[in-house]
Amino acid sequence: MYMQNKQIMKKLVSTWADGKTLPDNYVFPPGKRPGDHVVPTSQSIPVIDFSKSKHQDRNYIVQQIVQASQHFGFFQVINHGVPRKLMEETRRVLKEFFELPGEEKAKFCSVDLRKKFILFTSSIDYDTEAVHHWRDALRHSCTPIEECKKDWPLTPLNYRKVVGDYVVNLTELGSRILELICEGLGLERGYFEELSQVPLLTVNHYPACPDPSLTLGAGKHCDPNLITILLQDDVSGLQVYNNGGWIGIEPIPDAFVVNIGYQLQIISNGKLRSVEHRVVTNAEEARTTAAFFIGPRNDCRVEPAKAVISPENPAIYKGIQYADLVKTVRAAFTGQMDCALKPHMIET
Ligand code: OGA
Ligand code: NI
Repeated sequence: MYMQNKQIMKKLVSTWADGKTLPDNYVFPPGKRPGDHVVPTSQSIPVIDFSKSKHQDRNYIVQQIVQASQHFGFFQVINHGVPRKLMEETRRVLKEFFELPGEEKAKFCSVDLRKKFILFTSSIDYDTEAVHHWRDALRHSCTPIEECKKDWPLTPLNYRKVVGDYVVNLTELGSRILELICEGLGLERGYFEELSQVPLLTVNHYPACPDPSLTLGAGKHCDPNLITILLQDDVSGLQVYNNGGWIGIEPIPDAFVVNIGYQLQIISNGKLRSVEHRVVTNAEEARTTAAFFIGPRNDCRVEPAKAVISPENPAIYKGIQYADLVKTVRAAFTGQMDCALKPHMIET
């Protein structure tokens, strides 16, 4: 085993945290920590029923998506066509992976983003970040899927098959959602397919935490990509920033949480919003989520779509390299920069 794998392994929260008190380097600054406030839950964030999307209610669904994306940057979907059994099996193999013995997991510990499967902790920039996050994470490259799967784990049994099927299903669901958004924005058909998306599956594991009031599983951030489709388990933790306060998104069984990323905010010229969110930890239970990020290659240029701009609605963003959006998000994560889209960077 390489030294470096073992070094990373030792830093995983799930390796050392059991029974320990919260170390100082996980304590967020007073203005950023969650404290003991009880946040309201998400009755207001729309739950959109996709079972009708092939029929006459399609326009209504498009409207609901656009409105939710304008007001909250977030919505949930039910009856989305991804089999319940596959969602359950995916949750199960991901949980089981984190329960594997240390030596088994250490093989995958790495901070090399070129690899097709890595296990790491916190923001990945562990040595430079201002404060550590209470999470471990798996990152799966997914394109091309058959090739990438060969580097994914062989244990738990069926990991490759289950997570591989999951990625195929989520790719399809993602295309459906983007088609609806495409209609909602009045873009030409197939606009998002032309952008040649490169999806990425990140699994977040937030172990039970000795003091959820002082730390976060993920600090306030926006996602850089087009849309993210999140599979939650039955433990809550995700919070969305809205009107100056936080709203908790309570897990709904069988639902996916969908959020708009920076890329789509720019393409829509600010009509759809990429909204800040964070993850609080839980004192009793571990929480495991799977975030499916639909975004482009790093060398893609992101700019407002021609069809959304006009003399009455001029472009408010210049073009920007996708890699720079990713950098902004990473800087927010490591505490070096706030996560709002920087006007001087991209506003015209
Ligand atoms: C993310 C994210 C939320 C969660 O991975 O970008 O926001 O609840 N995850 O794990
Ligand atoms: Ni996120």
